[in-house]
Amino acid sequence: MRSHLCGAIDTASIGQDVSLCGWVQRRRDHGGVIFIDLRDRSGLVQVVMDPDRPEQFSVAETVRNEYVLRASGRVRTRPEGTHNPELPTGAVEVLGHDIEILNASDPLPFQAEDDDTGEAVRLRYRYLDLRSQRMQSNLRLRHRVVRSLRDCLEGQDFIEVETPMLTRSTPEGARDYLVPSRTHPGEFFALPQSPQLFKQLLMVSGVERYYQFARCFRDEDLRADRQPEFTQLDIEMSFVEEDDVMAVMEDMVVRLFRDVLGSELPGPFPRLSYEEALRHYGSDRPDLRIPMVLVDIAELMTDVEFKVFSGPATTPGSRVAALRVPGGAALSRQQIDGYTEFVGLYGAKGLAWIKVNDLSTGRDGLQSPILKFLPEAVIDEIVRRTEVQTGDLVFFGADTASVVNDALGALRVRLGHDLNLTDGGWRPLWVVDFPLVERDPETGQWQSLHHPFTAPRESDLDLLDSDPGRVLSRAYDMVLNGTEIGGGSIRNHRSDTQARILALLGIDAQEAAEKFGFLLDGLRYGAPPHGGIAFGLDRIVAMMAGEESIRDVIAFPKTQKASCLLTDSPSEVGQNQLRELGIRTRVAQPAAAGQEP
Ligand code: AMO
Ligand code: AMP
Repeated sequence: MRSHLCGAIDTASIGQDVSLCGWVQRRRDHGGVIFIDLRDRSGLVQVVMDPDRPEQFSVAETVRNEYVLRASGRVRTRPEGTHNPELPTGAVEVLGHDIEILNASDPLPFQAEDDDTGEAVRLRYRYLDLRSQRMQSNLRLRHRVVRSLRDCLEGQDFIEVETPMLTRSTPEGARDYLVPSRTHPGEFFALPQSPQLFKQLLMVSGVERYYQFARCFRDEDLRADRQPEFTQLDIEMSFVEEDDVMAVMEDMVVRLFRDVLGSELPGPFPRLSYEEALRHYGSDRPDLRIPMVLVDIAELMTDVEFKVFSGPATTPGSRVAALRVPGGAALSRQQIDGYTEFVGLYGAKGLAWIKVNDLSTGRDGLQSPILKFLPEAVIDEIVRRTEVQTGDLVFFGADTASVVNDALGALRVRLGHDLNLTDGGWRPLWVVDFPLVERDPETGQWQSLHHPFTAPRESDLDLLDSDPGRVLSRAYDMVLNGTEIGGGSIRNHRSDTQARILALLGIDAQEAAEKFGFLLDGLRYGAPPHGGIAFGLDRIVAMMAGEESIRDVIAFPKTQKASCLLTDSPSEVGQNQLRELGIRTRVAQPAAAGQEP
């Protein structure tokens, strides 16, 4: 239907007859001359219709935005003074000879390029939203990312194997999406939270190097970087240890950023232990672009009269920490109140602070509501440890270690952005030496930090029974600019170790046999040592695209409330269908769909 793409018309095409297809981006009527900006996947070009061809001209007059056209004509240079340097085709135009309307369009509910359109409308008409340059370039970027990753893995002998969608629950810590079975009334499949168990079984099968772009389903609280349905680049390798997996993956990610963005990631990626990450950054996914670090000061506070500090300073499992904010003395009372409210979201009961207006004048140069509670020597030591300078501020957190870490960790990131303290670029790292298990704060039951198939460190095996909280795992997470982009581990390839860990997690032999007996069986038939990792593809693409939300790099995403506004799902189903499935719903009046923002 066409000879050229709109975006390919340039000065080299001058004098040529071309035919183009596309959508009307804009139509302007300039006193007898009609200009049509015609858009296809490659870009825009201006088509001019003059009144000398009355028949064609009258067709052009009926054209509206987003009509689909075929236009033929001759390329010419634009008249002096009308060049558009913003547009790659801005030096030329097509003098239209013939114009054919391939399809009309209703007026759009919003303009694709309008940044102010609410997300609900964008998602309802996602196919129109995807017409915008931003979304088109995100889709293309995602495609290039997948291609680069595939090329890299295939060059290293990995093969892609598909694993089932209708399966049994895989424990990754979220709720399952269930699918009722008609042929087995009262029974359900679970959609996979990840292909974890299948990829391990593929290692038992002798595949040795597996990958898959795998759709995963998790019914969990959603955030900007979480979707109920998302894509992992899932990988597993046999006869490997941590360093083997990490080396191959690090090379792959370095190559990805080079291929797709032309960016060199700084390498080798630093490795930080979980413990160090929490100590310095209050988070196991630290954003290393932000130069601030948390400084422990509990031992200074054991005897101070300020109970807010001395309490946690003398309570096991608590933490008292300081965060130096360069230039923070300029923060207003109102800004400090705002940050106090912010840390409150993470459970902090307050946010003490000291402003350093002038370091040279000692105590007189400091300003703070808590100064009166602190002895000179303690203040001097805070100044020394935090290395504050004139013009800075120090924030303090005192509470259980987890509240202080969450609150000051999040505050650090927030301040880094608010005060423009981030040095740009990419700062990848590995976080390693995670504890194998932690106690569920409510039930007191041990639970996995990653998943139950993660291997403990060989040298910690003895602690499994005596002091499980101190056992470190063979897990590793890849973190980039404050986002966990991937996580994996060396697995339990021996069924006895796996059984011990399941027992520790309170899963007895019978339950284990019911839930993942197939894996435990498999491990008994010559399972090789193996390990792997899964990357959050959506997260990686969102970061590369500079998008805040992974919704903007998924063609048809769900809302924050896990519904699809385009298809208006989930939706009710007919009684017949339910009866066939042996299901009766208990919801009397299902909530009206499509009402959320
Ligand atoms: P994990 O649960 O850490 O590991 O998931 C791996 C990566 O997937 C991404 N991710 C998500 N992305 C979008 N929406 C979500 N709801 C979501 N949940 C996770 C993250 C994360 O790092 N089977 C293990 C991997 C393994 O051990 O090999 C697993 O699924 O970027
Ligand atoms: P108060 O004596 O409760 O008025 O608190 C004095 C200062 O300590 C205020 O700036 C509070 O914001 C701060 N503060 C109170 N509780 C905490 C806490 N748990 N951690 C850090 N600062 C706190």
